[in-house]
Amino acid sequence: MNRKHSLALAALMGLAMTVTACGSDDGGDDASDTDSSSSQSSSADGKIGVILPDTESSVRWESADRPALGAAFDAAGVEYDIQNAEGDAERMTQIADTMIGNGVTVLAIVNLDSESGAAIQEKAASQGVATIDYDRLTLGGSAEYYVSFDNTVVGELQGQGLADCLGDKKANIVYLNGAPTDNNATLFADGAHSVLDEMPYEVVGEQDVPDWDNEEAATIFQQLYTAANGKVDGVLAANDGLAGAAIGILEGNGQAGKVPVTGQDATVEGLQNVLAGTQCMTVYKSATQEAEALAQAAIALVNGEEAETTGTTTDSEGGRDVPSILLEPQSITKVNVMDVIEDGGQKAADVCTGEFKKLCADAGIS
Ligand code: BGC
Repeated sequence: MNRKHSLALAALMGLAMTVTACGSDDGGDDASDTDSSSSQSSSADGKIGVILPDTESSVRWESADRPALGAAFDAAGVEYDIQNAEGDAERMTQIADTMIGNGVTVLAIVNLDSESGAAIQEKAASQGVATIDYDRLTLGGSAEYYVSFDNTVVGELQGQGLADCLGDKKANIVYLNGAPTDNNATLFADGAHSVLDEMPYEVVGEQDVPDWDNEEAATIFQQLYTAANGKVDGVLAANDGLAGAAIGILEGNGQAGKVPVTGQDATVEGLQNVLAGTQCMTVYKSATQEAEALAQAAIALVNGEEAETTGTTTDSEGGRDVPSILLEPQSITKVNVMDVIEDGGQKAADVCTGEFKKLCADAGIS
């Protein structure tokens, strides 16, 4: 999707949000049946369930994805139920069972690990409920579609961002990777390595952060930093939360702003760190685009049609090619933080608070 198109869509969604601003999580059922099978974007009769993973690994799930999904389903005129598993795979399984019992026709999950995700999808299929992988591919799963960003490209952008900040000279770098149970984390790390392994850098520490836990990330980074005798010149942190953890430790050592750190999700905190110069970059992945892609795929399934896809993704564990809609991520540095604001990814009022007011003004953000 090109930028112009996505901006136009974002504007449309904005309009839809204004019109349905008083709606609840249960979308309206005002579908007109007559022409619902003629177009994938028309209203549908089914009910879509979405289970988000947690509230801790990234603020994105509740602050960006939930409202964007609600807006996309409202605009499509389809009923929906969005829940959050709060980081508990058993809870996700229970929510899935309840949603299936309540008659969802399509179930989309952001799995907490592939094993529990695959079990949920198998059960759904046995009850005639179609499933979609939202953001994270479930290895060995049976989802009809996979809706996400190109996550290898996300990692490449992070690697390139760090290389741009460090330059073409010798440097010691540390990787703070995401959860080992998240297939995306593998793709992010692979993408970053493909760029950074070509640079004259030495990897002086690399570790996964279980569950993307920010507190544990601080402990892990402190250990890696100490083991490297503080000789760390750059940090490949897989998302803004992990970046914040590393920046906290660097701050304690008088190194914040001197050691470039990458991120992802263009969160308020991430953008503020980019403006302050303590974070070298973040990656913006429009929740509006991802939610619209999910709505499109879900409605196609409800209507018994095929969704528009961008290609397939190989599930190496399940040995199958999953029809996919993969969107394009964008690298954000100090010079284009404004792009995120203009696209509706964050509000200037949320980013430009307190000490960040002046930094925003300097960066032309109002
Ligand atoms: C998502 C990231 C997110 C991370 C932690 C990944 O699967 O793609 O956007 O920061 O999970 O929730």
